[in-house]
Amino acid sequence: MSAPHKLAAQTDARLGRIVRLLIDHATVVVSGTKLAAEIGTSRSEVWRLVQQLRDLGVDIAGHPSTGYSLKSMPDLLLPDVLAPQLQGTLFGKHIHHYYKIGSTNTAALEAASTGAPEGSVFLAEQQTAGRGRGANQWHSARSVGIYCSALLRPALPPSDVLVLTLAAGLAVHSAIQEIDARVVPDLKWPNDVLIDGKKVCGILTEMHAEVTRVRYVVVGIGINVNQSSFPADLQAIATSLRLATGTEWSRVEVCVALLRSLDREYRSLLENPDAADSIRGRFEERSSSARGQRVVVEDGGFEGVTEGLDSRGFLQVRTAQGMRTVLSGVVSPC
Ligand code: BTN
Repeated sequence: MSAPHKLAAQTDARLGRIVRLLIDHATVVVSGTKLAAEIGTSRSEVWRLVQQLRDLGVDIAGHPSTGYSLKSMPDLLLPDVLAPQLQGTLFGKHIHHYYKIGSTNTAALEAASTGAPEGSVFLAEQQTAGRGRGANQWHSARSVGIYCSALLRPALPPSDVLVLTLAAGLAVHSAIQEIDARVVPDLKWPNDVLIDGKKVCGILTEMHAEVTRVRYVVVGIGINVNQSSFPADLQAIATSLRLATGTEWSRVEVCVALLRSLDREYRSLLENPDAADSIRGRFEERSSSARGQRVVVEDGGFEGVTEGLDSRGFLQVRTAQGMRTVLSGVVSPC
């Protein structure tokens, strides 16, 4: 694991190792002595770390004199829990976990600027300054959502980066459907995933680029997973997987499915010349609003009917004055 981040301390890696050991010996009580030997510390320090895990919501039975066992599978996005399930993908080797951080995108951008490798992933249980598009905030309550930023270093011109946001939307769509095929998410150009017309996921892609070449891109993905309610100002526009289906979801399962799917999309984009076309085509298929929807483009101040995505992924809108290309801004049905 790399050096602690300046903005917030990464979660103590020993917490993840204890959880991994307890998962690997799930049917037995593991002695404090064994845990202490495995992670290279004292039994009293193990006891202290177990208390910290309990504070994080991990259900551990036990006592220093007998040993410890897991009462239920923890749903924390710890590197030691995720990495084995992400082996062979771009995202299995450099996973950074924070109990609490301002924004995982800010952490990823800062790490990228000091040379963090492609495929680094930044995950938090809670964000105190989660960022959305424009000046929006992203509601990031503790351990109910997925707050994830992935660092990529694609050899793309800056004008082609939008396809990564579209690919991330497709990855979220696939991850949800892989876990419950009855849920049918709806992609809203360029960066939202909706269920029943309400937002379940937002994507914030940020990059550092020269004129002709991208240096790095951070794809930040926020998924509302187990929220049972939202603050009053979000109630009409936000939903969670739990609210939409009536059951709790495993954040670990959703996060693994998401990163595996993002890995497939990204690799194919790098390796296959037709991948960008495929991403645009599949985005249109999974979006009820990318074609034939009457919309108003708020920042552009015009309205018209959507006509799909152009070759770089920008939304085409037929207006009374002719076809317009939406480069950014909020597009709303009208
Ligand atoms: C939006 O819909 O406006 C985009 C929301 C993006 C939220 C995610 S949560 C993880 C990452 N860190 C952030 O601060 N923002 C993104």
